[in-house]
Amino acid sequence: MSFHVIEQAPARLNRSELAVPGSAPQMFEKAAQSDVDVIFLDLEDAVAPDDKAQARKNIIKALNEVDWGKKTMSVRINGLDTHYMYRDVVDVVEQAGERLDLIMIPKVGTAADVYAADMMVTQIEDAKGLKKRIGFEHIIETALGMQNVTEIAGASKRNESLHFGVADYAASTRARTTIIGGVNPDYSVLTDPLEDGSRAVHWGDMWHYALARMVVAARANGLRPIDGPFGDFQDPDGYKAAAKRAAVLGCEGKWAIHPSQIALANEVMSPSEAEVTKAQRILKAMEEAAAAGKGAVSLDGRLIDYASIRQAEVLVQKAKQIAGA
Ligand code: GLV
Ligand code: MG
Repeated sequence: MSFHVIEQAPARLNRSELAVPGSAPQMFEKAAQSDVDVIFLDLEDAVAPDDKAQARKNIIKALNEVDWGKKTMSVRINGLDTHYMYRDVVDVVEQAGERLDLIMIPKVGTAADVYAADMMVTQIEDAKGLKKRIGFEHIIETALGMQNVTEIAGASKRNESLHFGVADYAASTRARTTIIGGVNPDYSVLTDPLEDGSRAVHWGDMWHYALARMVVAARANGLRPIDGPFGDFQDPDGYKAAAKRAAVLGCEGKWAIHPSQIALANEVMSPSEAEVTKAQRILKAMEEAAAAGKGAVSLDGRLIDYASIRQAEVLVQKAKQIAGA
């Protein structure tokens, strides 16, 4: 290990994160009753400019009055380039800071953006005597944000997670797509002709680099990487495939832009029984190997060593966290 010890963000279950527009208070109760891990009440892109002020009031009232149980509660504020942002922070933290766990900052572009938000929240927390530190979740969804993702990830003690905002990221990078997440037939490999002259098309994942880049920055700074939205809520199989790709890369969760996506995210982002059993067998085999003075042994015909212990522990710890939730 490096001499540099990575401080981990407070552990929270974040398999699913439900987006709920602040302008739709009729959806709040249902969200509170759902099985989602984290809810973000939105003041940004799901709310029209004329509805922003009312949405802010709805969110403040709901944070104070709705029984959200043990759910982690977040509010997505407007971007730092808008005049809504300061009032989002001041009003929500001053008037509902006790029940607020996280603030989601969209389109974060530089470490200075994080610093500015941190300065505001710190002043309000001090002035109001709030005891619990409000954390930050940042949406990486611009070319600038992706370029500066490492500095953003390390910019505040409040940082807890990085989220891949695929829709705005596509717009910012001028990617030729208008769908939210998912795959694109134009991002494919055409094989050379096979023996019979036919050619195969292999669809690729156009978001792979961006997501993997964000995962590295998050993990190197002790933060949770979370995959963002999948727009086609009538395609559960497509959603699950996207969530699995994200999980395989190291993401801990995925957004749900529709309540039907919550169960899908919870399922994919929880290690399966088979994975946990295999991990436990690896730990046991390595314990026996250590007792016999060996550093590496074979299990089911494959080599395992001390690195296998660390891999297996990740899965076993996640299963424990879920069981204890
Ligand atoms: C989320 O905010 C996105 O732009 O995908
Ligand atoms: Mg966005």
